[in-house]
Amino acid sequence: MVETDLTNPFKPGAGHMPPYLAGRESEKHEFAKLIAQSTILENLVLTGLRGVGKTVLLDVFKPIAQTSGWYWVGTDLTEAATLSEKNIATRLLTDLSVLTSSIVIGKKQSLSIGFLSQQNTETHYLNFQTLIGIYEQTPGLPGDKLKYVLELIWDILKEGSNFKGIVFAYDEAQNLADQTDKDEFPLSLLLDTFQSIQKKNIPFMLALTGLPTLFPKLVESRTFAERMFRVMFLDRLDEESVKEAIKKPLESYQDLHLSDSSIDQIVSLSGGYPYFVQFICREVYDVFIQKIDSGLDPKVPISEIVQKLDIDFFSGRWARATDRQRELLAVIAELVTVEDDEFSVQDVVGKSKEALEKPFSSSHVNQMLSTLADSGLVYKNRHGKYSFAVPLLGGFIRRQQILGAAE
Ligand SMILES: Nc1ncnc2c1ncn2[C@@H]1O[C@H](COP(=O)(O)OP(=O)(O)O)[C@@H](O)[C@H]1O
Ligand SMILES: [Mg+2]
Repeated sequence: MVETDLTNPFKPGAGHMPPYLAGRESEKHEFAKLIAQSTILENLVLTGLRGVGKTVLLDVFKPIAQTSGWYWVGTDLTEAATLSEKNIATRLLTDLSVLTSSIVIGKKQSLSIGFLSQQNTETHYLNFQTLIGIYEQTPGLPGDKLKYVLELIWDILKEGSNFKGIVFAYDEAQNLADQTDKDEFPLSLLLDTFQSIQKKNIPFMLALTGLPTLFPKLVESRTFAERMFRVMFLDRLDEESVKEAIKKPLESYQDLHLSDSSIDQIVSLSGGYPYFVQFICREVYDVFIQKIDSGLDPKVPISEIVQKLDIDFFSGRWARATDRQRELLAVIAELVTVEDDEFSVQDVVGKSKEALEKPFSSSHVNQMLSTLADSGLVYKNRHGKYSFAVPLLGGFIRRQQILGAAE
């Protein structure tokens, strides 16, 4: 008898590739169009709420790009909140050097590169030391230095090879920020550099992934960013895709059968958000596997799963909110009954008059929303409206019954 693998296939967790990546066909198609550009006029911004599948989709784009002749470099910018101009330049050169470090530049060619001609080695590798050395020795501002190195690298790389270009992929790019007070403009530097080299027909493309604050931030830094990027807003999965995300990974588990009504329950509970689909399915799988042996007819343990989600996913974020913030969030949760509804400051003020003995003034709401945005619970879109920045947060808040308790 063949031993069946009973390992739980579902993968709730940041950046974990799901057992089956459902939907996202139109995004893959869009991406294929972006890498078909010979002159790069559009770069990629892949944005959406936490847990919607940005990181794993970027991982899916990578081999698509590579098989059509692109190199792919980049990293995760989670730790990058306080980047300086020098930092971002070093970042780009570090990532690029992974690709170039095995390339040897001959004596003759290196004579034309100031930094290398001063060294008495016969051969030079295009490794990080070389790149940063050239950068340091180039006169001018960080932007001038960086452009010079990138152009030089392209001149060397394009010789005798027919690759299409290089994708510079940065995840969690909402962490990039100009810092006027410190006179450091790393984000502007990044945008200026790519705009300038793309104008010179150098096929280096940016692929930035991040929370919904990302694109407004880019545009605020450089208005031309508006035209420089194709924005893909990743939304929750449609019903058909959610069903596939549930069913496909279970196809090889013959004993495990989910009824249509169980599947419908999972679809509805998840709200279509990929992280929740994985989370719920992992729980359901464990319950169903245990019940197979007992011969009992398993059911989706909805209230247990909801409780576990509340503890695992929401409560940490909630714990950081003050009492007054919780009251405000509870008012908002009454407004936002359909997920991803938008709301304005005026909406909140109006609702708070109905719901609270001590309602909020509009300046107070403004101020508090801006604090809540900084802590990642809400975000402001480009039209000045707000939304919850965490999927299904409204339902969680309503379960806390803040307003009821106050009466
Ligand atoms: N298209 C999809 N189908 C099924 N599961 C997905 C899909 N996209 C993402 N997931 C799952 O959702 C979770 C969050 O994905 P992730 O890429 O980390 O989101 P983000 O980067 O947007 O926060 C992971 O557990 C992942 O396996
Ligand atoms: Mg991510």
